[in-house]
Amino acid sequence: MSRIVLGVAGGIAAYKSCDLLRRLTETGHDVRVVPTATALQFVGAATWAALSGKPVSADLMDDVHEVPHVRIGQEADLVVVAPATANLLAKAAHGLADDLLTNVLLTARCPIVMVPAMHTEMWEHPATADNVATLRRRGILVVEPAEGRLTGTDSGKGRMPEPAAILSIIEQTLGRPADGLDLAGKHVVVSAGGTRESIDPVRFMGNRSSGRQGYALASSAAARGAHVTLVAANVELPTPAGVTVIPVVTAEELKNEVLSRARAADAVVMAAAVADFRPSASAEHKLKKGEGAPTVVLEPTDDVLAALVAGRPDHQVVVGFAAETGDERATWLELGREKLARKGCDLLVVNQVGEAMAFGTEDNAAVVLDREGNETVVSTGPKLALAHVVWDLVRSRWSD
Ligand code: CTP
Repeated sequence: MSRIVLGVAGGIAAYKSCDLLRRLTETGHDVRVVPTATALQFVGAATWAALSGKPVSADLMDDVHEVPHVRIGQEADLVVVAPATANLLAKAAHGLADDLLTNVLLTARCPIVMVPAMHTEMWEHPATADNVATLRRRGILVVEPAEGRLTGTDSGKGRMPEPAAILSIIEQTLGRPADGLDLAGKHVVVSAGGTRESIDPVRFMGNRSSGRQGYALASSAAARGAHVTLVAANVELPTPAGVTVIPVVTAEELKNEVLSRARAADAVVMAAAVADFRPSASAEHKLKKGEGAPTVVLEPTDDVLAALVAGRPDHQVVVGFAAETGDERATWLELGREKLARKGCDLLVVNQVGEAMAFGTEDNAAVVLDREGNETVVSTGPKLALAHVVWDLVRSRWSD
């Protein structure tokens, strides 16, 4: 059981943190809520106390004999501030300590996660940008806000990620070594899902990829401090915290988004199942049964991985995926080795398709091959576990 401090600053997203608190306690964590005085105007102390089963105060002068401003921070395994307002980020960046939460932030020696929520203008203001940069430099994970509906009718960047996505970041942070932000300062691009190619206005050619492995790669990179762009082809999964999602449909759209975003990336991971062929033309009108079985003529799509490898900057690590069944000529692993050589990428994550089908399942097993001939076996486990192994291997290539 981990001891978590849930700091809550004064923003309307405080109501979502009630759900986060419930999820944290239900997953067995011991949670102490430390709101600011303004947060208590959005959600009262009674709600936090009832959901956490612990007393709640924003004030430094309550229970002074127990020295809570020192003890709460010292005893924590992780402090998460959700929502973190522009004001709270500014105070934390400057080391101000005028209430219980800001004192806790100064006394904590555990990982600290800040989940900002504010209007787009406040997030983009140079003062906030400087404060965020300062906090990140000090090893605090400041989660990139999501895009979407803000208070009132406006929308833009500044939304707090959904509680389930914040919970995932917290659990990954708790499970990592103390210097867990080892991808900080790196920009990574991940593709996920399966492309769809139109046959007529209602039909498409697609594949079974759920996008789960790509989403796990994106979530795990964000939890380790990376700036993450996720190009997602037809995925129906919640957006991971701290990740910018670019939705695409076809192989052509995926290629354009991945290649343009890859230019500034330190690593690109092609977890998407990209169509190798598409109908050479999509019928303008719905094909009718009465017209007889249609003939669909296919043409090849471009190989995105090959284009990435051909145009990559020196420092960039390129990772491919392959799902193989093996055939009468070679085993699935041999086919993986051949594919790595053919594709020219740095790492290739090879899944055996069969009994433990990789598509759509929660778990995955794989062998990660590198171009030097090393093989890392990842036994059956959560897709997040495989994702962390992939980032470990990517990271070791950067430091080579
Ligand atoms: N890939 C790609 N562009 C394509 C097809 C695949 O970038 N048009 C990428 C996938 O994202 C994956 C890797 O290439 O990372 C391997 O995909 P796979 O379909 O296994 O490769 P193919 O070259 O199509 O191999 P084969 O059909 O011979 O198994």
